[in-house]
Amino acid sequence: MRISTTVNGEHRHVDDVWEGESLLYVLRERMGLPGSKNACEQGECGSCTVYLDGVACCACLVAAGQADGRQVVTVEGLSDGPALPPVQQAFLDAGAVQCGFCTPGLLVATHDLLARNSNPEDVEIREALAGNLCRCTGYEKILDAVRLAADRMGATRGGA
Ligand code: FES
Ligand code: FES
Repeated sequence: MRISTTVNGEHRHVDDVWEGESLLYVLRERMGLPGSKNACEQGECGSCTVYLDGVACCACLVAAGQADGRQVVTVEGLSDGPALPPVQQAFLDAGAVQCGFCTPGLLVATHDLLARNSNPEDVEIREALAGNLCRCTGYEKILDAVRLAADRMGATRGGA
C-alpha cells in the first residue's frame, strides 16, 4: 500500500508498504530518518518516541498505515537549523547522554513535557519520563537535564 504522511513538515509518500510494517520501520528504513531508535519494538523502552498528530507515542506500536494522512514529528524535526535546541543542549551540558540509544526518545518526551508544563516538579518529570528506559545513566543526569532545560527556557521566556 501507499502511505502519504507529513513528516517534520515535509510531505512524504512511501510505496509498497507491507500492512504489518510499523511507523518506526518506515521512518528508519524507508524514509532515512534513523533518529528514532529501535530497541525493544514492544512499546517498553520509549526509544522510538515520536509525535503523531501532536501526541507523543511509541512509533514501534503504530502501524505505518495508521500514519497515513497524519502529521509525524521525529527527533530530527525538533531541531530548526544548526544550533541545538535548548532541550538537546541541556542533555549535553548535564552529561545525560552516554551510549545515546535512549536519548532521542527522551528528547521527544522532554520536549512534550515542557510544552505542557514549563516548570515541572521532580515527580512530574519522573512520571513524564517513566516510559523511557535508560541502561546507562542511572537517570539522575537525565533529571538534571530536564531541570536545566526548564530553567533555561523559562529564562528565555522572561521567567525565573
Ligand atoms: S522500540 Fe518502541 S518502545 Fe522500545
Ligand atoms: S544513555 Fe545509554 S541507554 Fe541511556
